Amino acid sequence: MKRKGLLKDETEIKIVDLGAGSKVEKSNKRKVKSIARHSLSSAKFSRFLFRLIQDFKFENIIELGTSLGINTAYLATANPEASIFTFEADPNALKIAKEINKEHENILFYAGDISNSLPNTLQNSNPKIDLVYADANHTNEASINYFNIISPYLTSQSIYILDDIHWSAGMQKAWEELKGRKEVTSSIDLFDAGLLFFNPDFEKQHYVLDF
Ligand SMILES: C[S@@+](CC[C@H](N)C(=O)[O-])C[C@H]1O[C@@H](n2cnc3c(N)ncnc32)[C@H](O)[C@@H]1O
Repeated sequence: MKRKGLLKDETEIKIVDLGAGSKVEKSNKRKVKSIARHSLSSAKFSRFLFRLIQDFKFENIIELGTSLGINTAYLATANPEASIFTFEADPNALKIAKEINKEHENILFYAGDISNSLPNTLQNSNPKIDLVYADANHTNEASINYFNIISPYLTSQSIYILDDIHWSAGMQKAWEELKGRKEVTSSIDLFDAGLLFFNPDFEKQHYVLDF
């Protein structure tokens, strides 16, 4: 419902992009409906995250790249007892995300560049992170940096999801590097996103699935 409203929203907002930018829109002003069409994960993928959280009863969830907060709403409703830590640099997108999610009390919004806000937040609250959905700065360097910052807070039961793993050569490189890390025991390539697992009981396997 909320997604449908955003897909029709003609409001133009100024974009503050600290990431790799859009392949579709080059202007620093963008209609909300264009962001909703091109920058958000699909409803199918949001439902997949929702199911993961419900089935595994995940409690501490990180979302890198809140954007308009549609995906955040799925994360928050999947388990109202969970804490959703969501990070976004763009103040205008964040304002919409907060408005959309005003009834969800389990979301903690963090403004600013993730490379500052993420380490500060984790150091202050020292959580065990169950699920990460990394969909912010689509560069090789940022993808590796964010993983390294979060890695000490992961457990053998955590799942780390990197979005857009085939979006660019840099993202492909990041995916290959992370898959090869010794703490990563298996992975699933869904094309639009990749899942990393850390459970030592899993045999080292890398799956490619048609999602
Ligand atoms: C693809 S969108 C996220 C979409 C969202 N996960 C969803 O599916 O609804 C990426 C977002 O990451 C934000 N972003 C990119 N680089 C960032 C950075 N360095 N720090 C904070 N936010 C950043 C962008 O402003 C943008 O809103």
